[in-house]
Amino acid sequence: MTSKLESNLTDGETAQIIVDGKTLTYPVITGTEREKAIDTRSLRADTGYITFDEGYGNTGSCLSDITFIDGEKGILRHRGFPIDQLAGKSTFLCTAYLTIYGELPTRAQLDSFRTRIANNSNLHEDFKHHFQGFPRGSHPMAVLSSMLNALGCYYPEMATNNREKDLESFDDAAALLISKVRTIAAMTYRMSKGLPYNHPRKDRRYVENFLHLMFTEPYDEYEATPEVSAALDLFLLLHADHEQNCSTSTVRMVASGGANLFASVSAGVCALWGPLHGGANAAVVKMLEEIHESGDDGSKFIEAAKTGKARLMGFGHRVYKNFDPRAKIFGAAAERVLKELGVDDPLLDIARHLEQAALSDEYFIERKLYPNVDFYSGIVLKAIGIPVDMFTVMFAIGRMPGWIANWKEIAETSKKIHRPRQIYTGPERRDYVPIADRK
Ligand code: CMC
Repeated sequence: MTSKLESNLTDGETAQIIVDGKTLTYPVITGTEREKAIDTRSLRADTGYITFDEGYGNTGSCLSDITFIDGEKGILRHRGFPIDQLAGKSTFLCTAYLTIYGELPTRAQLDSFRTRIANNSNLHEDFKHHFQGFPRGSHPMAVLSSMLNALGCYYPEMATNNREKDLESFDDAAALLISKVRTIAAMTYRMSKGLPYNHPRKDRRYVENFLHLMFTEPYDEYEATPEVSAALDLFLLLHADHEQNCSTSTVRMVASGGANLFASVSAGVCALWGPLHGGANAAVVKMLEEIHESGDDGSKFIEAAKTGKARLMGFGHRVYKNFDPRAKIFGAAAERVLKELGVDDPLLDIARHLEQAALSDEYFIERKLYPNVDFYSGIVLKAIGIPVDMFTVMFAIGRMPGWIANWKEIAETSKKIHRPRQIYTGPERRDYVPIADRK
């Protein structure tokens, strides 16, 4: 870690901080894309002060080679490659390989990655017992998180919590997770509907296999159309990684304590679940349905959002303050996919109207609120037949490569456990009161 920092990120530039009348000098570090940070790692030791940054809006928690975002300019790049080029020319698995290993795979590398994934798609038969242990109607995100952690119990040699050992089996563990998260997700859906489980098929590619696992019936083999497969592949690709978001930071946090890959990504699923993060894609469709059912075209809802009575789900982003490039790609894809599938969804019209109304409204302009990736992705998922409760699970399947890449980065480079400080605001020291004396 220090070698990287000292070798090429500092060039003598410094920043000064005056604390209690004393001027302290700290190095400035500069990233590949010339983003700057004041390296305050010794601030507390020097002064006794810490920095306060609730929500971490100004805090760089790590150095990372994986993803670059410039929120002001709407730029998103994985390992240097712009998201629009990846979306136009790559596939989910190719982007997953790039995200995890840092380079676009050669044909041989991609074939071997695919084979490893295809060979790992089955679940141990005992897994069925875990599924049966959940009450009917359990939320798929709760099931998914539990199952990913349980997976580590079936591969204890890959989940030792000994970094060197876990890194030795990293390639297998990564392929296994990318493959089995899809099988688990589909089983979760089948379980919730009381449907028989399907077995993965080796002759199907990643996305087609997932759709088969979800929708094949004993009397009716599901065949995905090329349009459905392409739309789902694009969805997964656009979610592959996204820098230090809530769930990825969670994965890194858990990994920083030395926890294995399975436990770390399982924690990522929990973090993703919330409606301000990955849960937004389901919340958007629920919001659009409510607007539709109430007979509103979105105008009343916009007013409610402005007064804080409602939140326009799928709008706003901590980092993007101009546009979310993923939303641009998805906005265009939604139109195309619905047309290709012959789906006429009134929710798309409401979404378009909401977008136009919000983008020309002072409230949203002032706060730099634009559609994010979740604004249109739910409409696409709905069009290809994915139930709303599964939307955030779909996000988790897509984000798996990013979580894995971030776990690897921590395991290979970080020696420090992540442990933020706080400003304590509770009562001062006081003496214990026996129960008989309490009022
Ligand atoms: N609708 C109405 N007002 C909003 C919205 C919204 N969607 N988002 C932010 N605001 C307002 C907010 O009330 C605040 O107003 P004021 O300054 O008057 O108090 C201002 O804009 C700044 O908002 P914030 O909550 O401080 O911004 P944040 O950076 O902490 O939150 C966010 C970012 C994504 C959590 C938030 O914009 C939001 O809740 N959006 C809706 C949920 C959503 O779509 N989440 C998916 C994010 S993209 C997928 C992912 O990466 O997870």
